Amino acid sequence: MKKVLVIGSGGREHALAWKASLSPDVCAVFVAPGNAGTALENKTTNIPLKESDFDGLVSFALDEQVDLVIVGPENALVSGIVDRFREVGIFCFGPTQTASRLEGSKVFSKEFMTRHHIPTARFQSFTSSDKAKDFLNHQKFPVVVKADGLAAGKGVFVCQNRIQAEQYIDEMLCGKLFDGAGERIIIEECLQGEEASFICMVDGQDFQVLASSQDHKAAYNGDTGPNTGGMGAYSPAPIIDPEIQQKVIAQVIKPTINGLVEEGIDYTGFLYAGLMIQNHMPYVLEFNCRMGDPESQVIMMRMKSDLVELCLTALQGRLGETQIEWFFESALGIVVASEGYPRSHKKGCEIYGLETTFDNNIKIFHAGTKLNDGTVETTGGRVLCITALSNSILEAQKDAYQAASSIHWEGSWYRDDIGHRAKHRFES
Ligand code: AMP
Ligand code: GLY
Repeated sequence: MKKVLVIGSGGREHALAWKASLSPDVCAVFVAPGNAGTALENKTTNIPLKESDFDGLVSFALDEQVDLVIVGPENALVSGIVDRFREVGIFCFGPTQTASRLEGSKVFSKEFMTRHHIPTARFQSFTSSDKAKDFLNHQKFPVVVKADGLAAGKGVFVCQNRIQAEQYIDEMLCGKLFDGAGERIIIEECLQGEEASFICMVDGQDFQVLASSQDHKAAYNGDTGPNTGGMGAYSPAPIIDPEIQQKVIAQVIKPTINGLVEEGIDYTGFLYAGLMIQNHMPYVLEFNCRMGDPESQVIMMRMKSDLVELCLTALQGRLGETQIEWFFESALGIVVASEGYPRSHKKGCEIYGLETTFDNNIKIFHAGTKLNDGTVETTGGRVLCITALSNSILEAQKDAYQAASSIHWEGSWYRDDIGHRAKHRFES
């Protein structure tokens, strides 16, 4: 029987830990540091170690003789957590520090795409604000200004005019807005179209495509308001029809994996291409070196195969020999957030309604929660992701919203329109 360690504390990690715990070959799942949801899951135990405590995590995994580590968050990956586990011979599913630059540096990622002819928005990188502003003279608006480094999804600004663009250029290059992440910036062409998340498992040479999904990054209904980590997601994403899927594989995924091999970069782990589909053509907005959040919640609900077996197969370089199976149903997840999110928000509120008996097709994934004397309290901005697996996206939407209506805390809120793009497609 196997022991698995999942690193992280969000909804993504709850979904990965839950799915790992369903494997018949798994006797224990540890989550470091986890949340109230992972604390309450079968076979699952929270370990009070931060995702940045590499020494503590490695020695825990050695002591417990962990068979597989799955890393959730990008910060740990970009800081080299996989290399640390590999050094001591523990199987760790995720890309090395070098390979994680695909997410950790937007400049690296864009230049990589250029080298390998992967479709993406035209761009230029800058360290000087004067040069960046000069460049604006030759651009049509809107343009997109991005910090080079990790900025927790908050380093991208779509600027409608020059005044806005100059403001963000100054804030990033002169104001140190992102604590180092914005010392270099990118200015790129703004693409128009519909976004989708296209995630694969990669073993260094081969890959398997996960179910398609789409998240809702904007805070408010109608995809308006500030960007967030994601306010909801659904799978499959109808925009990824078989024709687009073939194009994404041929024009994005294969050239990326071949490019990594050519450059001597060993990439094992989840590879997430954030796509814009414009005129039936896929363009890469960004690469992430991990699963998405809240995409994981809906994808794990739909996965029929054994996640632990898949990760181990990938780590043995045998992904090409397997095929991932999926439930035919669709999944939709609604993020319930704290008052004020994505800006400063209140913590420490008791959550009511979690004891409700939900139908079997509903799963409540936790993110910013903790157990306090047996009660579940909020600790973050995105608190829960209420997810339904139903016969269609529309049914999953209805079921998830019905479940969400019975859970609340002071100031809790969620978007009312998760899945609206898929809904319009089915109605038109
Ligand atoms: P990123 O972190 O690069 O994926 O950007 C976050 C979000 O900003 C994306 O999900 C898009 O909504 C938006 N975005 C980023 N780049 C572009 C672009 N070139 N054109 C249009 N929207 C973009
Ligand atoms: N949901 C977007 C992300 O995980 O990056």
